[in-house]
Amino acid sequence: MPDVGSAFSLERLNALTEQSIGRSLEEAIDIATTYASERLQHIGAGSARNVYAISDDLVLKIARNRNSIHQNAAEAKISKSTAANAPIARVIQRARPKSVWIVSQRATPFNNTSAFEEASDQTWLSFETAVRAGMGGKKTAEPRSKLVQATLNLVYDHGLDLPDVIDVKHWGVLHDGSIVLFDYGEVE
Ligand SMILES: Nc1ncnc2c1ncn2[C@@H]1O[C@H](COP(=O)(O)OP(=O)(O)O)[C@@H](O)[C@H]1O
Ligand SMILES: [Mg+2]
Repeated sequence: MPDVGSAFSLERLNALTEQSIGRSLEEAIDIATTYASERLQHIGAGSARNVYAISDDLVLKIARNRNSIHQNAAEAKISKSTAANAPIARVIQRARPKSVWIVSQRATPFNNTSAFEEASDQTWLSFETAVRAGMGGKKTAEPRSKLVQATLNLVYDHGLDLPDVIDVKHWGVLHDGSIVLFDYGEVE
């Protein structure tokens, strides 16, 4: 039965993905992308994923190709295994057995440093400088902010790439005001 025009359902997406995965990964990706794009608002795209709004609180991130399922898998793994106070958008669900798509907490992306600064008690420059210094093992005169310390813990624990972490376009804010990294799948 064609699904066109019906409402989005995560259960349905799950079922479609499970059915299609036996054929090829490309086909599973195509089917998930078609199902989502006919029902949800497309809110973002990067080199690895297409992102759709499920609700005000959740997004669906679908891999663009077989290589980019690794980004989804890495985010799911980090989200599951990292500290409760880690500054990340949490992954709520992932496609099984392959991470063709994930469902994550929805953030409002900061598209520039002033948006970060409005939501935070620090400048982007001080944040970036402190994270770089921390990763380089340098001591700084200023005490580390909570966000800097939590970011460094995340980076140390999961081998996140520095360029991913110090790109303001990878950060945003949740409804509760917490500042989170939402693009963290590119591990070294
Ligand atoms: N959790 C999220 N909440 C809101 N928007 C998001 C979220 N994750 C990604 N996006 C949007 O989708 C775009 C692409 O997602 P991103 O995680 O950067 O994927 P890629 O790995 O392909 O770079 C982002 O630039 C952002 O605009
Ligand atoms: Mg990105």
